[in-house]
Amino acid sequence: TASATQADDAHRHFDGVDLQALAQRIGTPLHAYSASAIHQRIGELQAALTGLDATICFAVKANPNLAILQLMANAGVGADIVSVGELRRALNAGMPAERIVFSGVGKSTDEIAGALSVGIMRFNVESLDELHTLQRVAQAQEVTARAAVRINPDVDAQTHAKISTGKSENKFGVSIDEARRWFAERSQLTHVQLDGLHVHIGSQILSVEPFRLALQRVAAFWRELEQAGHPVNSIDVGGGLGVCYRAGVDQPVAAADYVGAIREALAGFRGRLLLEPGRYLVAEAGVLLTRVIRVKPGIERTFLVLDAAMNDLQRPSLYDAWHDIVPVADERRPLATYDIVGPVCETGDTFARARELPECAAGDLLLIKATGAYGTSMASTYNSRPLAAEVLLQRGRYAVVRRRQHFEDMIAGEQPARNWETP
Ligand code: LLP
Repeated sequence: TASATQADDAHRHFDGVDLQALAQRIGTPLHAYSASAIHQRIGELQAALTGLDATICFAVKANPNLAILQLMANAGVGADIVSVGELRRALNAGMPAERIVFSGVGKSTDEIAGALSVGIMRFNVESLDELHTLQRVAQAQEVTARAAVRINPDVDAQTHAKISTGKSENKFGVSIDEARRWFAERSQLTHVQLDGLHVHIGSQILSVEPFRLALQRVAAFWRELEQAGHPVNSIDVGGGLGVCYRAGVDQPVAAADYVGAIREALAGFRGRLLLEPGRYLVAEAGVLLTRVIRVKPGIERTFLVLDAAMNDLQRPSLYDAWHDIVPVADERRPLATYDIVGPVCETGDTFARARELPECAAGDLLLIKATGAYGTSMASTYNSRPLAAEVLLQRGRYAVVRRRQHFEDMIAGEQPARNWETP
C-alpha cells in the first residue's frame, strides 16, 4: 500500500488550536476537548427539543471534568448522576439541584440521604428495596422525595453486550409488571411522590428502532397508568445516542430523528421530558494526543508504541472499540500497517490492530479521535502511570482543566504498614 497517500491538513488544528504547539506546551498524553464542538451538540439537541417541556441531564459519567460540567451548567444543561461523587461534582460546577437526577442500581442509604438533603429533582428508582429505603430516608428528613421507576423494557439495543442495559436479563430497572404493583400501592408511600417513568436501554446505539420500541412500551404503560388514575408527571428517556467512532462506517442517528421518535411515541404527554445523553454531547468533542515512542518491527507485525496506553483510554481494550487514529502532520507519506499499542504490560493494551496509517517515526504526534466520552472518566493509574492532563479548547485558545497528575498525587494516601491494629 506504499503508493497510497493521505492528506492530514484537517488534523493540524482542533477548535482553532495548533495541536503541535499544544503538545509541545503541555506534553503528551493529553486529552483535549473542544468547547465549540460541545456547544454545537448541545445546540443541536436543544433545537430538536424546541416546543417540548424538556430538560437535558448530562450523564456525568461520560466526562466528569469540572470545566465540562460548568460548560453544561452555563448552557442550561443539568446532570444525571450515579454516585455522591458525581453529585458533588455537579453541585460544585454550579448545576442547580433541581436539574439533577440520580440513577443506578446500587445507591446506598447514605447516598440517597445526601442527594435528598440537597433537593435533587428526581430519583430513578431501580428496585423495591431502593423504593423502601427512599421512603424511610425521606420520612426521617421530613421531606417528600420525587421518584421515577426505571422500566426494563426488555429491548435489545443492538450494541455491545457490556453496554446493553434494557434486556430482562440485565441488572437494570424493573419489569412493567413490577412497576404496575408499585403504582397500585403508591398510597402507602407517604414520603415518596412516585409519578415518573424512566428508561435507558444502553449506549452507543446507532439505530432509532430500539429507542422507538422501548419508548412505545413506556408510552403504553404511561397511558395505562393515567387511565388507572396515576398521573405521570415526567418521562425520562435515558441516554444512549451513538456517535461516529469510525469515519465512513458508523452512521449515528441525527438528534432531530431521535427526538422525532420521542415526539411520536410520547404524543399527547403533557408532563416533563428528561433526557440523559452522555456520549452524544462530548465523545466527538474530545481527542487524545499522543506521541510515538518508537516503531518496533515485531516477528509478525510492526508495532507503533505510543506514550498513551489503556490506562488513558480503556475502550479499545475493554470493548474492542474502534477509534480512528490519525497523525498530526503536514506532509503526505506512504501508508503502512501497524498494530498500535501502549507501553502497558499486557497484550490488551492495544488501540488498533493491523491499522493502515501514513508511515510513522519516533516522536510523531498522533490523534486518537472521539475520546471525549468514557476516556478520562474510566482512566486509571495502572502501571503507575500518572493521569494525563486535560485541556479545553475554544477558538484558538486553550485552558488546562486538569493538570497532569504528579507522582506525589498518585501515591497520596499510601503509607508503610506502621501502626498495626485489630478492627
Ligand atoms: N443514563 C443512564 C442511566 C446510563 O446508565 C447511561 C450510561 C447514560 C444515561 C448515558 O449513556 P450515553 O448517552 O453516554 O450512551 N463505558 C461505556 C459506556 C457505558 C455507559 C453507561 N451508562 C463505553 O465506553 O462505551
